[in-house]
Amino acid sequence: MDPVLYNDWHPVALSSQIAAGAMLATDLLETRLVLWRDSGGVLHAWEDRCPHRGTRLSMGTLQEDTLRCPYHGWAFGKAGRCTHIPALPDAPLKAQVAVFQVREQYGMAWVCLGTPAHAGPPAFPEFADDKLRQVWCGPYDVQASAPRIIENFLDMAHFAFVHEGILGDKRQPAVPDYTVETFEDAEYGSGVWARQCYAYQPQASRSATGGSDIEYTYRVVRPLTSILTKHPPGAIREAIALFSQPLTETGTRVWIIMALNDFTSSHEAMRAFQDTIFLQDKPILESQYPARLPLAPGAEVSVRCDRMSLAYRAYLKQQDLHYGVIR
Ligand code: FES
Ligand code: CO
Repeated sequence: MDPVLYNDWHPVALSSQIAAGAMLATDLLETRLVLWRDSGGVLHAWEDRCPHRGTRLSMGTLQEDTLRCPYHGWAFGKAGRCTHIPALPDAPLKAQVAVFQVREQYGMAWVCLGTPAHAGPPAFPEFADDKLRQVWCGPYDVQASAPRIIENFLDMAHFAFVHEGILGDKRQPAVPDYTVETFEDAEYGSGVWARQCYAYQPQASRSATGGSDIEYTYRVVRPLTSILTKHPPGAIREAIALFSQPLTETGTRVWIIMALNDFTSSHEAMRAFQDTIFLQDKPILESQYPARLPLAPGAEVSVRCDRMSLAYRAYLKQQDLHYGVIR
């Protein structure tokens, strides 16, 4: 397993999806997870695999803070230790479920499968800006590697083709040059960002009423996280964070959180706008070959406006990422 991702935090669910006394099954980095919330409101993340014969524990029951396996009824308490074996009540209780670190931030549950290399999830300071409203979009399941998805999120040259009439205009497909730098910042964390990215957008956001010239900033703050901010000339300011949940090397669940000062559009309308955009990207992403992102210079042909994508590939190399990429 790739130590970079194994020791990082990944989004696995919305906090609101797991009520007290409820379980939710998901996957992360080929590992089956069961998330469950105890009667005191504390969230737990376990491997969703009974240590007896490998059954999914999430198919069993959760009662009085005890998970019971559906196969032979073994019971497991809060710390993941077996507390009861119905077929042999006096057997020694040695079985232990693998327990992972979990925390809640940005309205989501985050899991680290290994030893955390970071104090917490990626920095997203716009989320806490009290002049902005938060909208959770997705999740979107895509048969593509997370690095391919991040790279698409950083790409401006596809707007006029994939998002024609919304984020791009076929009569103005040229991408003006922009600046790419590595950065280290107390608020934004560290990584690589692209600034002074300009595009003409027929409908830059849900509430836009006509075309406008938009200034973008993109930042990559972890191997599988990117945040863009838009500064149109009008009043709408918005930050869009894309967090990937790598299910497998070539299968990804994408979570998007927007923080923006549009207080008039409904939550549903803003989600629908984001759904439209993402569902335009999805077939492109699923068609890309190879599915894993090739990092070697020259593996694919690039031009000057791909310099953010090249900076992202260099960042992944420098971070020593192996999962979802071809080095
Ligand atoms: Fe879980 Fe036997 S497989 S109790
Ligand atoms: Co797109």
